[in-house]
Amino acid sequence: MTKKSQPLKPGEKILFTVAGAFVVFALVAFIIMQFVIAKSDKPVFETKTHAELSPEGQHGSELFRTNGCTTCHRALRNGTNMGRTADLDGIGSRRSLEWLYAFLRYPEQTYGAPTIDHHAGEHSAAYVAQLPEKDLHAIAVFLSELKADQGSAAAPVPPKGESPFIDAMVKMMAPKEWKEKYKDIRDKMKEEQAAQAGSQTSTDAPADATQGEHP
Ligand code: HEC
Repeated sequence: MTKKSQPLKPGEKILFTVAGAFVVFALVAFIIMQFVIAKSDKPVFETKTHAELSPEGQHGSELFRTNGCTTCHRALRNGTNMGRTADLDGIGSRRSLEWLYAFLRYPEQTYGAPTIDHHAGEHSAAYVAQLPEKDLHAIAVFLSELKADQGSAAAPVPPKGESPFIDAMVKMMAPKEWKEKYKDIRDKMKEEQAAQAGSQTSTDAPADATQGEHP
């Protein structure tokens, strides 16, 4: 049997040209992207978390790495991205030192619900609660020192800049109880700042008693 090469049909020509164009486009885009990344002095992803470790926090950071936490979690560039609650960077802005210690020691009571891995029994992170109390405290101190900056997922304050659209959507979609129960943290911060500025001016000029709301 001899194979005769057939000329391509018009439809096939179009198909191969389009597919080929995609491949060439992807390749060119990839090369340009790599070039831009290499040339740019700005990091591709801005880091929005930071840590200032005390001596105990530093010790906790070592314990965090040597006690298997990094198989499921990530902090300060150590650990996995594959875990289920992997990223602990910035957790110190979300949780207090007391909460963190309580969670490590009594995960289920602290969550108020069954955990996936941390509670006692046949669970991969059940060993955590059994670690010496001193070590757990150091780890909790370490975690409490992982802070989130404005705009990070773990920060209570949203990124800078206003989005009237998103604000309007939130106002529209939020249930009524939320509106009664919670306040926009940005308004709260503005009030706090105003109160601070107010108390500063009132110490500068204590004569004017009508201005301040403070007793
Ligand atoms: C086998 C995987 C695994 C290991 C190992 C592990 N964790 Fe976890 N961790 C989890 C999972 C999953 C959660 C979410 C809670 C749950 O369901 O267990 C969690 C939750 C947490 C939380 C609470 C996060 C939050 O804000 O809700 C902290 C803090 C934490 N882990 C710290 C640690 C520390 C410290 C270690 C090491 C001593 C450790 N974990 C080891 C899987 C793991």
